[in-house]
Amino acid sequence: MYDFAPDADLAKPELYRQLVDAAAALTDGEPDAVANMANVAALLWEFLPQINWAGFYRLIDGELVLGPFAGRPACIRIALGKGVCGTAAATGATQLVDDVHAFPGHIACDAASRSELVVPVLRAGTVIAVIDLDSPEPARFDTEDAAGIEALAAVLSERI
Ligand code: SME
Repeated sequence: MYDFAPDADLAKPELYRQLVDAAAALTDGEPDAVANMANVAALLWEFLPQINWAGFYRLIDGELVLGPFAGRPACIRIALGKGVCGTAAATGATQLVDDVHAFPGHIACDAASRSELVVPVLRAGTVIAVIDLDSPEPARFDTEDAAGIEALAAVLSERI
C-alpha cells in the first residue's frame, strides 16, 4: 500500500516538496510513461485542496492529446495555441490564470472551473506534455503553486 497523504495545513513550499518527493519515489525506475502519469495525477488529486481536475495532455504529432488525469471526463484533443493548455504548449511558458472566463479562447471542459494552472513539461528544451490543474475557486493558484508544479515537471522530464 502506498500512503503519501500530506500533513494537514502545510505551507505551500513544504506541501510541494513532499509532493515532488512522492512523485520522484513513485516513478523511480519505472519506464512506463502512462503508469507514471497516472500515479502523479492521483498524487496531485490527493495532495492539492480545492481542485476539480488534475492531469496531463501529451504533445503528439503537433497537437495535445488527453493523458492520465483525475476528475471529470475532459476534452481529448487541443490544438497548439488554443486554450490555456495549447498556449502553454506553444509558448513553453507556465500559464497562471486567475479567471478562466477572462482568458481568450479558454476551453471549458467543466463549467465549474474558475481558475487554472498549466505547466509545460520539457525534455531537452522541447515541450513533450503539459500538467493541467483546474479549480472551482477563482484565483486558486499563485506563484508558489506554479513553482511547485514546475519542480514536478522537471522531475518528470525523463519519466513520462
Ligand atoms: N481548460 C483547458 C482545457 C483542458 S481542461 O481544463 C481539462 C484549456 O483551456 O486549455
